[in-house]
Amino acid sequence: MSDLAGRKLRHIEACLQAEAEYQGVRSGLSRYRWPYAALPELDLAQVDLRCSFLGHQLQAPLLIGAMTGGPEFSGRVNRHLAEAAAALGLGMMLGSQRAMLIHPEMRPSYAVRRFGGDLLLIGNLGLAQLTSGFGAAEIEEAAEVVEADALAIHCNPLQEALQRGGEPHFQGGLDALARLVEKVRHPLLVKEVGHGISGRVAASLAPLGLAAIDVAGAGGTCWARVEELVRYGEVRHPELCEIGIPTAQALIEVGAAAPQLPRIASGGLRSGLDLAKALWLGAEVCAVARPLLAAALESALAVEGVLRNYLDELRIALFVAGLSSVAELRERASGEALAYHRGDVEER
Ligand SMILES: Cc1cc2nc3c(=O)[nH]c(=O)nc-3n(C[C@H](O)[C@H](O)[C@H](O)COP(=O)(O)O)c2cc1C
Repeated sequence: MSDLAGRKLRHIEACLQAEAEYQGVRSGLSRYRWPYAALPELDLAQVDLRCSFLGHQLQAPLLIGAMTGGPEFSGRVNRHLAEAAAALGLGMMLGSQRAMLIHPEMRPSYAVRRFGGDLLLIGNLGLAQLTSGFGAAEIEEAAEVVEADALAIHCNPLQEALQRGGEPHFQGGLDALARLVEKVRHPLLVKEVGHGISGRVAASLAPLGLAAIDVAGAGGTCWARVEELVRYGEVRHPELCEIGIPTAQALIEVGAAAPQLPRIASGGLRSGLDLAKALWLGAEVCAVARPLLAAALESALAVEGVLRNYLDELRIALFVAGLSSVAELRERASGEALAYHRGDVEER
């Protein structure tokens, strides 16, 4: 097995462990109370989850989060994810395409368009690669080869700093992004990997002309922990691994700093109720990664099962709040804040 394939495998093995998640920081969503209407004046079957995102019609506001690509087993994971996303009319983000730019023979593992038909597909590369070599031509190529509708650039300084052989080179990152938006034809998104985008960062990104920001906040998969598990077999710097902006806070900060930029909510979304609350806090769509990983190693049907569970819970959350659609949820959220409670011990 090549070095790269070995590293991808170790990442997946580490992500499957419970220790891959934050130990203290939570997404913050459980602090919000969901409204309840004993007289919802609608039937559960009437609830309409459809929405549009980046010009695509989705059957529900949910994307499969960026995970993998490269070696053959990653190709299988991607196939299962794409088939499930297509079956349910959802979107999918690919894992970092760095591997296929360096090793063109790895391209087939990312080529999911053949399994997913016209699903909304978002490619992925790291800002660290932008500042240390790859230019607009390679980025455009990455999107074209996989027939992506858009491309996400992940900004992950904490992960790069802790990864053995990481590339913690972020000097000039904002300028590199600005140049990229000008040169690349595909819509560009910026995302974190689970440590969160702050309002301050969103304000600096706001003038660039991005298509969206995925806040990828703290509370779920913690890439600082994953890198330590891969590097040392244990977490040696636990305090560094609790750095991150909780997803709920990141959503609110980014919304205030860059209100015109569509937000994707992700990072620690572990139930359909989490999705509902994230939508209320202003997300256009939500994304889920790690909870799909074990199922994706198994089959498309297994992934579909996990996703259906999220969607069923989301539908019930809307129903009991008396909301007949995602559109109605957004309308109500624009005039009414979710109740917030501080006192209770915060559970996930
Ligand atoms: C196995 C795995 C691999 C990942 N690989 C990438 C990647 O290549 N690029 C990226 O931008 N994010 C990557 N992520 C981060 C996720 O896209 C997401 O931002 C993060 O895991 C938080 O969501 P979660 O708590 O639902 O897992 C990966 C996550 C997992 C679990």
